[in-house]
Amino acid sequence: CKVTRKAFDDVVRCLKTAKNEREVEGAFNARARLEGNDAGYNVIAAAGANACILHWGRNDGRIKKNDLVLLDAGVELNDLYTADITRTIPSSGKFTATQRVVYDLVRDAQVAAIEAVKPGNHFLDPHWAAMKVLAHGLADLGLLPCSAEEALLPENQFYKRYTLHGTSHMLGMDVHDCAHARIERYRNGPLEPGMVLTIEPGLYFQEDDLTVPAKYRGIGIRIEDDVLVTAKGHRVLSDVPRDSDDVEAWMAEL
Ligand code: GLY
Ligand code: MN
Ligand code: MN
Repeated sequence: CKVTRKAFDDVVRCLKTAKNEREVEGAFNARARLEGNDAGYNVIAAAGANACILHWGRNDGRIKKNDLVLLDAGVELNDLYTADITRTIPSSGKFTATQRVVYDLVRDAQVAAIEAVKPGNHFLDPHWAAMKVLAHGLADLGLLPCSAEEALLPENQFYKRYTLHGTSHMLGMDVHDCAHARIERYRNGPLEPGMVLTIEPGLYFQEDDLTVPAKYRGIGIRIEDDVLVTAKGHRVLSDVPRDSDDVEAWMAEL
């Protein structure tokens, strides 16, 4: 996580002049190879609406003036353990008012999910905590065809149109570690001290989605951190600015 932070710093510096996602990928990979074994998985560098394509890996899009740039990347050290961190940051260094509304909602969901990481909790408790916040936020933005509570019912889950993926996976030597573990030990199992999982809620408004007001279309945001389950709760291992104000201050400083 520490080296990954340095690589994210490199990316922020490179965004001052970068015009293409490949420059972001290159800046990240340079640090990964300099201080680690490699990137732990293919870097996702997605500007603008490319962020709405999960696991975007072409990384060949243009970076425009008011784009958000989603960077999902982790350095793997020589012990072969990898980080898995995502930040979605404004190429200009400042969020637009519209981007900030969506960003702050995703961040609120992440805070709620991280709070739910503690031993004995169900693996999916952080996910449900995040979905609750996102559903209420989507309802407040007028994006749901019903109330948040109705949207959250298991038979509805209408928020999924915009959330697209789960909130957590285990993390270790493989970025999706223990993917073949028994369901009762993992997806339906309890969190235990020593486990490391990601917390990575997101919102994705496709460019052509007519259910979304035009101003939100093409915005894709994910915020991902790596969290250790401790004896009493959790410790966030990744240290990259997350709150919108902190992201802007970080970018201004660099
Ligand atoms: N980088 C892939 C993931 O976040 O799961
Ligand atoms: Mn992840
Ligand atoms: Mn990731």
